[in-house]
Amino acid sequence: MEPRLLAVGDLHVSYAENRAVTEGLRPTGDGDWLIVAGDVADKVEDIEWALGVLTRRFARVIWVPGNHELWTVNDRADGLRGVARYEYLVEMCRGMGVLTPEDPYALWEGSGGPALIAPLFLLYDYSFLPPGCRTKEEGLAYAYKTGVVCVDERLLHPDPYPSREAWCAARVALTEKRLAECDPELPLVLVNHWPLVRNPTEVLWYPEFAQWCGTTATADWHRKFPVKSMIYGHLHIPRETNYDGVPFEEVSLGYPREWKKRAKPPQLPRIVL
Ligand SMILES: [Fe+2]
Ligand SMILES: [Fe+2]
Repeated sequence: MEPRLLAVGDLHVSYAENRAVTEGLRPTGDGDWLIVAGDVADKVEDIEWALGVLTRRFARVIWVPGNHELWTVNDRADGLRGVARYEYLVEMCRGMGVLTPEDPYALWEGSGGPALIAPLFLLYDYSFLPPGCRTKEEGLAYAYKTGVVCVDERLLHPDPYPSREAWCAARVALTEKRLAECDPELPLVLVNHWPLVRNPTEVLWYPEFAQWCGTTATADWHRKFPVKSMIYGHLHIPRETNYDGVPFEEVSLGYPREWKKRAKPPQLPRIVL
């Protein structure tokens, strides 16, 4: 059988139930690759454990950071903040043979290929404003009023950038340049923890949470570049949608309290090509 391109996100392995799901993830056969779309865990030790399990099972593992990986928490990374923490994680991944957004994009030649797999790290910039808000300040003020405020505000530091939106703008600029330099004949599989378009956030229970879910700066990337599929997580609402003919796949597991109440157990990893 031809190798498959598979994906999973938001494993959040600090939960015992999610560790069990992670240990149960299996390839469909030899040569399958696994995309891990961020939020593996908060602590470096847990991220390393999960990626270790997965690299032993899959021919290739591709990782992008979620917001949880970027939190400065009490772990082996010893208080590293922002870019320094991200770079620490990239080095750890490289040591394990895991592909990161800092590596050359990988050519997939299995089922559904050829395609270039591009792991991205774009962050968010508060431009997915809540209804009726015109600025980031108004959007955040509204969120603090309703109490729906992402923990990133306390734990995801942008250092040395002055703000998360400045870090996001820098990531968007360098990524857009890299994508523009790719062979326009080769289809792309874009992987980012946050969706590239705002539409998937329209089903959020608390619309003000969308501020922490992406940036309007990437709204036309799925049309501008030859995108075959866009893989994301973060929303903990697993589903497939289609925008302008491009499939968008939310591949998250999510928290046990979320996935356990669904009628069907998680069907992971998802076949994305
Ligand atoms: Fe998550
Ligand atoms: Fe997330």
